[in-house]
Amino acid sequence: MCEVIASQPSLLQMICRFGIQLGVGDKTVREVCEASQVDTTTFLAVANFMKNGRSVASLYIDKVSVPTLVTHLKQAHDFFLNFELAHIRRKLLDAIDCSSQNEVAFLILKFYDEYLAEVRKHMDYENRKLFKHVDELLAGRRPTDFVIPFTSKGHDNMDRKLQELKNIIIKYYSPSGNQSSDLLCNVLFSLYNCEADLRAHCEMEDALFLPAVRLLDEKVASQIPAGEQLPSSEVSQENLSEREKEIVACIVRGMTNKEVAAKLFISVNTVLTHRKNISRKLDIHSVSGLTIYAIVNGIVNLNEVKLQ
Ligand SMILES: [Fe+2]
Ligand SMILES: [Fe+2]
Repeated sequence: MCEVIASQPSLLQMICRFGIQLGVGDKTVREVCEASQVDTTTFLAVANFMKNGRSVASLYIDKVSVPTLVTHLKQAHDFFLNFELAHIRRKLLDAIDCSSQNEVAFLILKFYDEYLAEVRKHMDYENRKLFKHVDELLAGRRPTDFVIPFTSKGHDNMDRKLQELKNIIIKYYSPSGNQSSDLLCNVLFSLYNCEADLRAHCEMEDALFLPAVRLLDEKVASQIPAGEQLPSSEVSQENLSEREKEIVACIVRGMTNKEVAAKLFISVNTVLTHRKNISRKLDIHSVSGLTIYAIVNGIVNLNEVKLQ
């Protein structure tokens, strides 16, 4: 086990999420797994997945232990929400000037909190709905009020929002006065590491966990007599046109598409087309992100924007 960890330090986080303690001595992977009551095949499947990516998933889908994977994924959720992202937030607070005079710092923190809320919403969904359904399947029941998805909803949103956050910090925040750039660079490094870790987690759910759950579902379905089932990027460098800037100003002041259309004497469809083009050009997909862009580029002042 020691050689496995030393050859790929990124497995350290995985080991913690299986509940395996360090101090493994000279024990083999099997001996360590058995001592920690972890299914060895599932451990090796996850380790191989972390090293080689989703191409190896098909080798393990019918061999992994679904309960062991659920434990691993739940521990990962706890780690992201209560340790990693909370820790990065504290570092972000140290790295930026959150005084009321620094509008961009204030909005970056707000954007971070929105990202955190997005991750929390997604993981709450998996804990309360997806894993609960899996518990039912493991108990031999097959509720029909939940459809096992092909990909767990929300992965793309989390990923996109984190990319936006990194881009906004890199493009628009300059440490001032006694503030150290080192602290902010450290926050960015942490965000990149967290992004890679979270991406691997999401890929494992989509390519290994969900297919294994679907197999379990088929098995349970075949054992239940009919009628007895329970109900149950690249960042674009394009500039905005004057019209697009007007649209941005309206949006960040809190106007609806209909209100923007009436003010600029255009149709709602034209407003929607402009909004799509703005998102594509700036690679910004949220009002918070647009607000920061608008303030930094002098399109509006902080006292004009609608803070939600
Ligand atoms: Fe998850
Ligand atoms: Fe997920």
